[in-house]
Amino acid sequence: MSLTSLPPQFIVFEGGDGAGKSTQLKLLSEKLTELGIDHITTREPGGTPMAEEIRDVMLKKRDEPVAGNTELLLIFAARQQHLDNRILPALAEGRWVLCDRFIETTYAYQCVGRGVNEGFFFDMMVNVVGDHSPHLTVYLDVDDEVSVQRRAARKDGSDRIDDETQEFFTKINDTLRGFALNLPHHATVDGNQTEEAVANDVFAFVEDLANKTDSDLDSMADTQTASP
Ligand code: TMP
Repeated sequence: MSLTSLPPQFIVFEGGDGAGKSTQLKLLSEKLTELGIDHITTREPGGTPMAEEIRDVMLKKRDEPVAGNTELLLIFAARQQHLDNRILPALAEGRWVLCDRFIETTYAYQCVGRGVNEGFFFDMMVNVVGDHSPHLTVYLDVDDEVSVQRRAARKDGSDRIDDETQEFFTKINDTLRGFALNLPHHATVDGNQTEEAVANDVFAFVEDLANKTDSDLDSMADTQTASP
């Protein structure tokens, strides 16, 4: 099957802060446009007007403490809006979806980072995401030092999570890396390379989607519910 004749694909970029997800998502989007593949680009939390408002609430710096459970509830509220009003309609209309972060970020930040109960996370995942898992999750793997440099260059410390320690971010990144290495339908790309080299590696994994047989594509739907 060729890439252009594939059913619409849901592709997620994951990676630690400063991994280059937004840049690579943009480069893949340009490539898909060149190929004439209709698609949308989006992000989490966010992607719809209401979900973007929830993002602002979730990330705003404030004096009162914010519980990990509160973060989880906000994230899943935004995700439900995003799935119902943007992601699923796009796929149904035949558009691919490229999304900056998704469910694995939630496990990493809220369960591993904030200590939210896993059972609570999985209940929410089953109820909100169900079997609408990505066809491909691209994990951009960057060394801690690269991530620290990129964050320092880019971030202005303007959101609540930017203020976390490097230890927190290392733990998050290790969790995301573990998912990418161990779960099916994941690709790990060395994000320490030049933007162009990373983009080429990402595209090679995307092209590989076209080599999946119909039965691979069917079985993906079965196994994906197990992620993360
Ligand atoms: P970013 O889009 O610039 O990466 O910012 C999103 C921030 O939100 C980032 O700090 C990670 C955080 N976040 C969570 O804590 N949980 C989630 O489930 C998602 C999607 C993001």
